[in-house]
Amino acid sequence: MSPLVSALHLYDIANVKGVAADLSHCNTPSQVLDFTGPSELANCLKGVDVAVIPAGVPRKPGMTRDDLFIINAGIVKTLVEAVADNCPEAFIHIISNPVNSTVPIAAEVLKQKGVYNPKKLFGVTTLDVVRANTFVTQKKNLKLIDVDVPVVGGHAGITILPLLSKTRPSVTFTNEETEELTKRIQNAGTEVVEAKAGAGSATLSMSYAAARFVESSLHALAGDPDVYECTFVQSELTELMFFASRVKLGKNGVESIISADLEGLTEYETKALEALQPELKASIEKGIEFVHKQQ
Ligand code: LMR
Repeated sequence: MSPLVSALHLYDIANVKGVAADLSHCNTPSQVLDFTGPSELANCLKGVDVAVIPAGVPRKPGMTRDDLFIINAGIVKTLVEAVADNCPEAFIHIISNPVNSTVPIAAEVLKQKGVYNPKKLFGVTTLDVVRANTFVTQKKNLKLIDVDVPVVGGHAGITILPLLSKTRPSVTFTNEETEELTKRIQNAGTEVVEAKAGAGSATLSMSYAAARFVESSLHALAGDPDVYECTFVQSELTELMFFASRVKLGKNGVESIISADLEGLTEYETKALEALQPELKASIEKGIEFVHKQQ
């Protein structure tokens, strides 16, 4: 529905034609094209400005996002190789889980191909922000439109760290509220997986969040000077190679990483930030090793 989308290229290994026919009837100015199977992947990617990768298998109840690594790592690697060959200048949005590992996988693949631009590779963590905004709004009876909670770290369990003390407009939380909201935001993906009882994970709220991140990217590409989103990117904010935080987006991707959100944290947030780092580090290293072992 975004007027910023001029064309939508859909790729999958099956069932793309029906989805494309269906979408193409919406009265938007964008052209919808379908591409099926590896032989059509290159043509799908040529000329695109933003490549969004949500491919792979979803969780079932009892699984962590990391349990998907064994299948999704290879899928992401293959798709990013094609992106590197056909649209190396594109913004790359990685949605496939485990994001904490698939983004490092994408970075290594792009390095091997000689086209890695850390400013243009993004792990999509917008859904964590969307959830944080929703849950804080409900808890505090606020107007949703006004609420913005930065969420930093990564996209799995305790690596998802909502910085409630940085909520805008400023809101105060009791210790109990902070604990309850933080846990709910961290487990929100699992809440959906359990409610779907074996039929997959979040798709509709995920699409909503992904669309928001794509639209922000398109605004940035169009020269809008005021585009900020939280996203998992190469970063020097912590000792970790990749870290989600608010970034300013511009025509060339990440224009700056907003460090201010990590200043003046509460004791709860400071401890949580410490606690998440070993798990996030291990997930990043797992992704990097996966690509190196394949050589
Ligand atoms: C989510 O946060 O909903 C997604 O990462 C899917 C999942 O497995 O939780």
